[in-house]
Amino acid sequence: MKLSVFASLVVVPSSVFGLLDQKIKAKGKVYLGSALDPNTFNDGAVRPVAISGDFGAFTPENSGKWDTTEPARGVFNFTNLDALVNFATSNGKIVRGHTLVWHQQLPAWVQAIRDSNTLTQVIQNHIATEVGRYRGRIFAWDVVNEIFNDNGTFRTSVFFNLLGENFVDIAFRAARAADPNAKLYINDFNLDGPGPKIDALIALVGRLKSRGVPIDGIGSQSHLILGQVGGVAGQLPRLAATGLQVALTELDIRIQSPVTTQKLQQQQNDFNTVARACISVPNCVGITVWGISDKNSFVDSTFPGFTAPLLFDRNLQRKPAYNGVDAAFS
Ligand SMILES: *[C@@H]1O[C@H](CO)[C@@H](O)[C@H](O)[C@H]1NC(C)=O
Ligand SMILES: *[C@@H]1O[C@H](CO)[C@@H](O)[C@H](O)[C@H]1NC(C)=O
Repeated sequence: MKLSVFASLVVVPSSVFGLLDQKIKAKGKVYLGSALDPNTFNDGAVRPVAISGDFGAFTPENSGKWDTTEPARGVFNFTNLDALVNFATSNGKIVRGHTLVWHQQLPAWVQAIRDSNTLTQVIQNHIATEVGRYRGRIFAWDVVNEIFNDNGTFRTSVFFNLLGENFVDIAFRAARAADPNAKLYINDFNLDGPGPKIDALIALVGRLKSRGVPIDGIGSQSHLILGQVGGVAGQLPRLAATGLQVALTELDIRIQSPVTTQKLQQQQNDFNTVARACISVPNCVGITVWGISDKNSFVDSTFPGFTAPLLFDRNLQRKPAYNGVDAAFS
């Protein structure tokens, strides 16, 4: 019996699933990533999708935030962040660190600080300890997160109240000292449309560069709403024109309940539009979706009435949205 018949059946289909990360790399990008943490990768349904070829990078969804990593001054807990970093690296994935200076999930002891010298030391020690621990193992960090109001003013926080804009300089310099090779990002939401917020962020980046502050990238979170994604393609090039690298760092596209076939189709188109926006901007290095499946998204609890913002459904089945991203990379 001749076996050649079997050889002739080895056909590579034009559309192979499970390879989104390879496909975005073939477009010259660095990664397609997802938010992840032990609670999700220890889920037996999520885990195989996480380690599949669809994802090449993970961002700790919560385990890197201040309230988790330094719940009391000088008392650090890296149990969950260690687990996430070990899970990623043992599966051949890279890690985006998130996040060092943020006004939320910030312990009360930091918010209670009332003098600038103490706060400076606390920021420096927090960053030296967290970034230093993963030196060489975390390729990028969101150093400051959500520091602007939508009207372009600095958000009121203990950091801005005591240190003014200088808290940004302090944070970036501390991060560079702790890991000279990590890419250091400013990260924010609502950078998907024109207005005072993105203007203020771009202006700050210019001041930071003129002061020699070590900043490498701008993260546009891209928590988007179905049918309202058209601004990304216009604004991402503006962020890239700063000369820094850019990334979509927390992409999801939430649907107002009830979810219908038509809305899922719209979501496919929307994900395709957003993914192509990154592909077409040379210094957009990657896209991170904010979770693997709809069953673990923060959207349902944070935006009541909205749901189903990701690429995989609650049963870890690929949605039309997945096909929209796949098409953008193909
Ligand atoms: C450190 O964090 C882990 C995970 O959240 C928790 O289970 C553990 O109790 C914490 N350790 C201490 C000493 O608080
Ligand atoms: C900008 O927005 C913040 C937060 O909503 C608000 O507190 C502040 O008064 C606003 N400033 C101006 C100049 O509108």
